Amino acid sequence: MRNCIHLKTLIIAVLLTFTNGDEHDHIYQDDEQVVLWMNTVGPYYNQQETYIYTTLPFCLGPVSSVLHHHETIGEALQGVELTFSGIDIDFKKDAAKQSYCEIKMDEVKYQAFAYAIKNNYWYQMYMDDLPIWGSVGEKPKSEDELFIYTHKNFQIGYNGNRIVEVNLTTEDKVKIDPAVDIKLHYEVKWVPSQIKFADRFDKYLEPNFFQHRIHWFSIFNSFMMVIFLVGLVSMILMRTLRKDYARYSKEDDIDEMERDLGDEYGWKQVHGDVFRPPSYPILFSSLIGTGYQIAFVALCTIVIAIVGELYTERGSLLTTAIFVFAATGPVNGYFGGSLYSRLGGKLWIKQMVVSSFLLPALVGGTAFTINIISIYYHSARTIHIFTMLAVVCICVFVILPLNLVGTVLGRNLSGQPNYPCRVNAVPRPIPEKKWFMEPAIIAIIGGVLPFGSIFIEMYFIFTSFWAYKIYYVYGFMLLVFIILIIVTICVTIVCTYFLLNAEDYRWQWTSFLAGASTAVYVYVYSFYYFFFKTKMYGMFQTSFYFGYMALFSMALGTMCGTVSYVGSSVFVKKIYSTVKID
Ligand SMILES: *[C@@H]1O[C@H](CO)[C@@H](O)[C@H](O)[C@H]1NC(C)=O
Repeated sequence: MRNCIHLKTLIIAVLLTFTNGDEHDHIYQDDEQVVLWMNTVGPYYNQQETYIYTTLPFCLGPVSSVLHHHETIGEALQGVELTFSGIDIDFKKDAAKQSYCEIKMDEVKYQAFAYAIKNNYWYQMYMDDLPIWGSVGEKPKSEDELFIYTHKNFQIGYNGNRIVEVNLTTEDKVKIDPAVDIKLHYEVKWVPSQIKFADRFDKYLEPNFFQHRIHWFSIFNSFMMVIFLVGLVSMILMRTLRKDYARYSKEDDIDEMERDLGDEYGWKQVHGDVFRPPSYPILFSSLIGTGYQIAFVALCTIVIAIVGELYTERGSLLTTAIFVFAATGPVNGYFGGSLYSRLGGKLWIKQMVVSSFLLPALVGGTAFTINIISIYYHSARTIHIFTMLAVVCICVFVILPLNLVGTVLGRNLSGQPNYPCRVNAVPRPIPEKKWFMEPAIIAIIGGVLPFGSIFIEMYFIFTSFWAYKIYYVYGFMLLVFIILIIVTICVTIVCTYFLLNAEDYRWQWTSFLAGASTAVYVYVYSFYYFFFKTKMYGMFQTSFYFGYMALFSMALGTMCGTVSYVGSSVFVKKIYSTVKID
């Protein structure tokens, strides 16, 4: 226990203090040491299958003043593994071509390099937080001719006392042979540059890709859909409510027939059941609480990313998201707890625990499984036991207490049922209806339009996540997020209306699932993306891809489901508040 608290302080310290050292104010004196960090190596087509640089028997340079980088939790989780290259680079001091170390070849090393070159391995480095990529060797035309690049030629652009650009050219390919040692060389040339420090990440962004016409077009398209749907929903609202308003007014002579029909069957018939608590209230309210929290985290993270240009800091987006997630525990507790109380549930502690750990358990379960595979592969993606303990500590000591605060608040502030209609003692039988009015069918159909409004954005998000493109158009993401929420609400209101009109009062789960089914389509789309848009292969990369995609889809589904449920419950309360019960 005490250990764990210790660990927690430590983690918070790690979270708060980013590394100290020159590279964190990014200002250099002349001749000051510039650190070249070696990060990972891995196959070009499997961007998540990465290994520590020294997994390949590369040699390191002679300088040894900096040993290891203190990483943030986001970096630890994303498999950033920085090792000091030992290469002597000093600010504004050119270095002529010289050798920095020698690889003593033998059969084992030869096999390692041969495998890496055949599989298009490349390595990644960081200099002053700027990423640099280089390929290990050249893929042979005939299998027995394997070449390794032995020379790294750095051209570093500086502006005043800051580094603004790094170009790397790999040269001098040498045929590898188990009996011939290989000398590695480097060369540094400093070039004055006009690039502003604030703009130095611009060359990594790909405006031609992200601001493509298709992207704008898709936003426009989704926007039109929103207008159409909002129109549809307001029409339904007007139609259902018109008669009731007419009844209150004096001239009560609108077509009697239509009014009678409305009273004979349709949604008004189920007023005594519509507020009957759904089945599995603990699970239901926990999902809603978690959904609120995910929506909050998504919104906050996107806004912070827009304001803070987070893409320039390794791992900081993930660190931010974890922080926001831990801090928004009360949101989860408040909405989940108050809903559970309104549903008349008594086991509120059980509900709170389920609610707090629903998402952490899903994430933890997936990460743990993938971790076992990644330990087997010795990948740099392996999450260390220390990081895992830290995450468990955050859950137990931060998320649970914050959830408790939220739950207590929620139960006291909005725990009283405030439904416009009383619930009958005996449930009304649900009449036979057409197959397409069954809740399961409605739920599946409900996801089509929300998915339609986001799938092009999904392509951009997937591509940036799975293929080393830096996602920076968070403004687009925010727009799509808002559009998704509006579309989801509108579609489920329509679904709920049809369901209630078929005199089926099980609208709570149906509306939740109608929104959540968006994620099913996203997951199916991720299969298409995997097979047709990427060249990933191998057990590790495949399980990593489908595991985290499943997780992403589940989180998205919970969020959309919550949005739908909340939207429809406002709608249901609104229409039933006009029903006169005799
Ligand atoms: C790096 O490469 C780009 C594109 O080839 C070039 O425009 C730029 O001047 C180079 N920068 C340095 C510092 O050599």
